[in-house]
Amino acid sequence: MKLFVDTAELEEIQALYAIGIVDGVTTNPSLIKKAVDRRKKHGDSTKIETYIKKILKTAKGTPVSLEVTKTEYAGMVDEGVRLYKKFNPVARNVYVKIPVNPAMKKNDVTCFDGIRAIKTLAKKNIPVNCTLIFTPEQALLAAKAGAAFVSPFLGRENDFIRKKGRWFFKKEDYYPSRGRSKDGKLVTDQGVSSGANLVNQCVTILKKYNLKTQVLAASIRSTQDVLDVALAGSDIATIPYNLFKELLTHQKTIEGMKTFTKDIVPEYAKLLGVTK
Ligand code: E4P
Repeated sequence: MKLFVDTAELEEIQALYAIGIVDGVTTNPSLIKKAVDRRKKHGDSTKIETYIKKILKTAKGTPVSLEVTKTEYAGMVDEGVRLYKKFNPVARNVYVKIPVNPAMKKNDVTCFDGIRAIKTLAKKNIPVNCTLIFTPEQALLAAKAGAAFVSPFLGRENDFIRKKGRWFFKKEDYYPSRGRSKDGKLVTDQGVSSGANLVNQCVTILKKYNLKTQVLAASIRSTQDVLDVALAGSDIATIPYNLFKELLTHQKTIEGMKTFTKDIVPEYAKLLGVTK
């Protein structure tokens, strides 16, 4: 499974790319706002354009998702082309993020605009990351329209199911991949029992019909979520910076390190050119 970092903080991206363990970056308008506001607070007046170019250069050779802001077909296509023309020449790694359905209410006339925009951009060979996926059916439509990636939102799907089941939870609380029952019945959302199950259903359908679109699991909040989407067969997981450290941490690894370093006998150390 490929690992992307879900951030617009340049330092975080630089740190992970320096280690060499990330395969891409995902951003959205909220993440860019957060990064820009933080920099402004510290007196950094770098223009957003320059800032994005730095991100693209750091991630050279791997996809970077940049999201459109408009919510109707023509506007999304226009912004998608604009983003691609302006930024893709920098490092040839821009993916345009388009919402699967930009309508703000059910059955609105604009409900197909995301899919139409994906189709138009894909025809122009502009790679699209289709975002805000909450059903495998949405993933299927986006794949048929030619999206390079579909992004099911694991954490937010879990939030929705937990609310439905009237369970109290904090954003960072883990929700089991197998789902939970209430009054002897599994609580589901349109046939989906958890965020990890949503990812798995997307993977299963796209693989079954040999669609080239890759599943990019998003809205990941814990190391267990990462494990769940890996087991669910996701092609990619985009994860927040802090989780990378957590993925590497285990109490017994720390304990083991303490014991091993304490147990080094001088003769063994000498062999390795170390004085103890
Ligand atoms: C996707 O665009 C978002 O960057 C992110 O994965 C959402 O995560 P959250 O649901 O934890 O806010």
